Amino acid sequence: METFGERSATFYNLLVSLKVFDWAYGLAYRYVTRLVPPGNYVLEIGPGVGALLRKLEQGGYKAVGLDASPPMLKRAQRRAPGVSTIGVSFKAPFRGEAFNAAVALFTVHHWGDHEGSVEEVRRVLKPGGYFVVVEVDLRRMPLVGSHGCTEECLKSVLERGFHTVVEKRFPLLVAVAKKV
Ligand SMILES: C[S@@+](CC[C@H](N)C(=O)[O-])C[C@H]1O[C@@H](n2cnc3c(N)ncnc32)[C@H](O)[C@@H]1O
Repeated sequence: METFGERSATFYNLLVSLKVFDWAYGLAYRYVTRLVPPGNYVLEIGPGVGALLRKLEQGGYKAVGLDASPPMLKRAQRRAPGVSTIGVSFKAPFRGEAFNAAVALFTVHHWGDHEGSVEEVRRVLKPGGYFVVVEVDLRRMPLVGSHGCTEECLKSVLERGFHTVVEKRFPLLVAVAKKV
């Protein structure tokens, strides 16, 4: 698992303040709104400095952030004052079936234990809940190197316990995984 310290958090926060990734936050947000209505419980894993989390809160979702990095989460709590907690995807500190949807943007490629993490996401989702994963499409953007995923990789990570459809939204891939 890659960790984000104080310097990475400061740099990331600057990029977010400059709205560099707003197009991606908008895309991820639209997917969530298509799948579950406002008022539902949505877990964001790896919210970083909280830009999508804030959109979810402002959109009327009961949004909860779970991030492994204290410096990132400190900034997320300033941006999105709702509920966020320190923790890792492969040991989520939530009761089972607590969320209607989960979303993970630009973070799955950082997760150490993918199998354990996906099992945890499945555990905390309600029956029929959705897991939306957004990553840079490595086939189309090979320069991003380890900071992206292929369609095959996303499908194989999400194959256990989910029915998954991967859509291409250049330069991104969006996986919509439904708990089965
Ligand atoms: C590249 S940042 C993306 C942040 C945010 N999703 C965005 O798009 O702006 C990745 C974030 O995922 C977090 N992260 C990485 N691995 C994690 C894990 N296994 N569990 C929880 N958070 C994790 C990092 O601490 C970091 O804040």
